[in-house]
Amino acid sequence: MGARDLIREAAEVLASRKNAVALTGAGISVESGIPAFRGAQGLWERYDPMEYATIAAFLRDPGKVWIMLSEMIDILARAVPNAAHRGLAELERMGILRSVITQNVDGLHQAAGSRKVIEFHGNAEALVCIACWKRYVSREKIRDGIPPRCECGEILKPDLVLFGEPIPWVAQGDAETEAEGCSVLLVAGTSAEVSPACEIPRLSKKRGAFVIEINPEETQLTRAVADLHIPATAGEALSSLVAAIRGN
Ligand code: OAD
Repeated sequence: MGARDLIREAAEVLASRKNAVALTGAGISVESGIPAFRGAQGLWERYDPMEYATIAAFLRDPGKVWIMLSEMIDILARAVPNAAHRGLAELERMGILRSVITQNVDGLHQAAGSRKVIEFHGNAEALVCIACWKRYVSREKIRDGIPPRCECGEILKPDLVLFGEPIPWVAQGDAETEAEGCSVLLVAGTSAEVSPACEIPRLSKKRGAFVIEINPEETQLTRAVADLHIPATAGEALSSLVAAIRGN
């Protein structure tokens, strides 16, 4: 099937079933200038996640992990939503998309106007004290140097999920409800390599949902779970989908 046929079929499924949910990953923010985690330009090429992204590594040597975190927070602070974030917000306004489950911690779906966003891995905007739970605004706090400290003297950690930490239980529950209740799951920009987020497409599929995957590359979902794979960037695919549904 050619690219236009794939977009047309996906648009028909979305417009006829309406009840869609999106699952997004780092790939959807690449066009906003935020590198993904895996692959040639990925953050994990420069920082071994076992040394820089586990809760054990953070507690052992927060100063070291904060080198990676402050770089990430700096990049996120400069990023603005792209056509993919705007496309999903538009699908919500059109009454087609009911929610976005995102593994991203950049807040760009909300900035683009999506109202129901489930942050599966938290958000980098806030810092939280690992001892007294006091919260701070990331950008303000790291201006004074890293690792940032709470008034109580303890180390601050971004309010995001590191490897080895549980998914926030409200996000986990909401994501399962959305995944099981939708009739179309739109998976965009994730390698689907990290559990438990990568289980979400299977949950939807088991309940009879049609799974559309948007990713320039194939993933473990492409042949095993996806009903339709659109091999394009999220910005291109989602803006074409919105245009096709509008009948342009
Ligand atoms: P990955 O970096 O693992 O995967 C990004 C995916 O996006 C890849 O499959 C790319 O092919 C695809 N991609 C790249 N550019 C794209 C574009 N312009 N449009 C669409 N797709 C594009 O990122 P995630 O799957 O989000 O977790 O990674 C999952 C989790 O692993 C992250 O939330 C993070 C990370 O370690 C934690 O830190 C706990």
